[in-house]
Amino acid sequence: MSARTAAAVAFVADPAPAAEAAPLLSVVKGGARVAETRAEVREAVRAARAAGKRIALVPTMGYLHEGHLTLVDRAREVADWVAVSVFVNPLQFGPGEDLARYPRDLPRDVELAFGRGADLVFAPSVEEMYPHGEPRVTVVPEDGMAERLCGASRPGHFRGVLTVVAKLFGTFTPDVAVFGQKDFQQATLIRRMVDDLDLPVAVDVAPTVREADGLALSSRNVYLSADERARALALSRGLRRAAELFAAGETDGGALRAVLRGAMSAPGVEMEYGEVFDARTLAPVARAVPGSVMAVAARVGRTRLIDNAVLA
Ligand code: PAF
Repeated sequence: MSARTAAAVAFVADPAPAAEAAPLLSVVKGGARVAETRAEVREAVRAARAAGKRIALVPTMGYLHEGHLTLVDRAREVADWVAVSVFVNPLQFGPGEDLARYPRDLPRDVELAFGRGADLVFAPSVEEMYPHGEPRVTVVPEDGMAERLCGASRPGHFRGVLTVVAKLFGTFTPDVAVFGQKDFQQATLIRRMVDDLDLPVAVDVAPTVREADGLALSSRNVYLSADERARALALSRGLRRAAELFAAGETDGGALRAVLRGAMSAPGVEMEYGEVFDARTLAPVARAVPGSVMAVAARVGRTRLIDNAVLA
């Protein structure tokens, strides 16, 4: 059994998601539905298409926050029928990561998604998504884009992400799928997958939503103590300072990286990376230009946080 399959089995053994999902099958609000199977999704999508509707999908791992809900808003702007998937995908968690404790609250997610106008919430079990266990055919990016940045410390992570996203695209056949810019590398790899495999879906990326003090919204913020939350501001502070420096004329990649990394060399913040890179290839740049991307990752306590900003 591979480490990832073991992780999946550990997830199956966690009674919370399946136990909570079951009664929700009956939830129907003003035509909105919760589906637990791919067959139900296909039937709902067929009906929506037959009614001439443009289909949007917002893939999530649940524990929805305002960032996710703005993706639903965006989806409603560009489509007539909006689905939100809620699935904590074991394939994208490595051994020792937070799969078992990843926050889950499906009833709340359903309320929030329907409250924001979603037409369907898809909340499958692990067995429903991976009926034959760990898939034998997976989507594996090969040109290094998935090994940089977050991929360097999370080997196999993007293989898990792309595989589940490809499966969701296969199930929903959406016209458009909406992702958040906070996961910039993920969104770039998904665009690349769609391009490489000629998948007939438009990938839309919506801006990161932040707290008033700059902290990027994340389901994982719930792990932070008050003290850690204050320390976590090092990430957005570094991005802001480096953006200001760039606006003042500094284009040297090394100088901008030093600002990002300097902000994260603070007590209680364990920096993973502070990088300035090309938006398309994700390769580090010697000279930043408008459109180059800055991204940061750090551990604050036990919580791994990421953030990024596109240079203007
Ligand atoms: O961004 C996420 O929440 C996940 O990586 C995604 C895209 C839903 C795939 O599991």
